[in-house]
Amino acid sequence: MTKRALMVLIVAGLAAACGGADSAERSTAVLEAPPTVPAALTRRGPAHVVVNLETREVTQRLADGVQYTYWTFGGTVPGPMIRVRLGDSVEFHLNNHPESHNPHNIDLHAVTGPGGGAASSFVAPGQTATFAFRTLNPGLYVYHCATAPVGMHVANGMYGLILVEPPGGLPPVDREYYVMQGEFYTRDAYGVPGHQPFDMRKAIAEDANYVVFNGAVGSLSGDRALTANVGETVRLYVGNGGPNLISSFHVIGEIFDRVWDEAGSEPNSNIQTTLVPAGGAAIVDFQIEVPGTFILVDHAIFRAFNKGALGELRVSGPPDSGVYAGRIAEGIYLPEGGAVQRIPVPPGEPLRARTTADRIAFGQRVYTQNCAACHQIDGRGIPGAFPPLARSDYLNADARRAIGVILNGLSGPITVNGERYSSVMPALSLSDEAVANVLTYVYSQWGNAGRVVTPDMVAPVRAAAPRPAPAAAHE
Ligand code: CU
Repeated sequence: MTKRALMVLIVAGLAAACGGADSAERSTAVLEAPPTVPAALTRRGPAHVVVNLETREVTQRLADGVQYTYWTFGGTVPGPMIRVRLGDSVEFHLNNHPESHNPHNIDLHAVTGPGGGAASSFVAPGQTATFAFRTLNPGLYVYHCATAPVGMHVANGMYGLILVEPPGGLPPVDREYYVMQGEFYTRDAYGVPGHQPFDMRKAIAEDANYVVFNGAVGSLSGDRALTANVGETVRLYVGNGGPNLISSFHVIGEIFDRVWDEAGSEPNSNIQTTLVPAGGAAIVDFQIEVPGTFILVDHAIFRAFNKGALGELRVSGPPDSGVYAGRIAEGIYLPEGGAVQRIPVPPGEPLRARTTADRIAFGQRVYTQNCAACHQIDGRGIPGAFPPLARSDYLNADARRAIGVILNGLSGPITVNGERYSSVMPALSLSDEAVANVLTYVYSQWGNAGRVVTPDMVAPVRAAAPRPAPAAAHE
């Protein structure tokens, strides 16, 4: 049987089984590459829709200076968005480009049938596979390749979205965009230049080097940023190709007025961050009240600032000081790169204080890191909540007691300088040396008694109230 005869048979079978859609309007789906969304459908009833999609393997920019060989639907990551309607019969033609090195197929989550179409669409390079399905459920669905090794095909970029409009369509908005998250597993760390091969070991460990929107770092930034005007309502069709990670999708400085979470049929309202599962989607709408740059992120925040999951929506128009007022600084929420950062420690610094001056200097650092958030950098505390350390009668009266408070914590009412406090201080996991240093620092400051506390004074207090060993990280 010829391929065309087979297709006629498939489509005729679908039409017969589903109630004579062969008399329906016939059209070819207009596919749009991200972040463009195909126009809303204007027809009132179901149709017979032909989809032609080609798998292609292309080497493109993953980040500045970094190339990656993507396996794609249609040459982009994600693949083009497909827009059909509830009740349509879809005649799907999957072509595999002759220069591909791998066979591919497609599993559309909008399909009711074996493998979501994957069972009928396995296609070798240079070939075409054809199948047909009826859209039985409205919603926004992921499609992806399901050829073994499945995870590798998905990780290399083989995913996209298909929207099945409900009868009557979705509520109209001013702008629609197509954003899909995915992560990449490369041999070298984030940002290491050159052509980066896929690393299956990292993929299995779910240890992604890159987490990005629309296939590459910066694909929605600068000249490629999404745009809108004040007063408009923006809709984002948000997908997550994974292969592994769940997206905590958030737009900094906006609140989603309406979210079809998990792309279900009932919208929720007033959402700050919506979860988009791997292999899932959401539709988010928000009206824009003020101009500025609004940042799209996966709010699992290291992914945003250090792995690429940052996009921009640039909004033009008049300000509205009734909604937001303030001087606008540039340069916040910029990518920070993948370098592992450490708080610098001066080289050659002795591990143990040799002089009281050392002790005070080291103790200041311990204080800043561990104590200042409550007792304040100037030791004044916060009235009614955290007692002062400055000129504190409680502190100055008894160094041994002060050591015990740091080692063991303190709860219950105490009186400091005539004021009652009943907050809880947690026990701090600090070494004897660090306790001695921080107390010596505190005693040296703010009009306090100027005592020197040594590790020899701390050890017996610790021994009197046995506690778990201190964390090794604290000196
Ligand atoms: Cu594939």
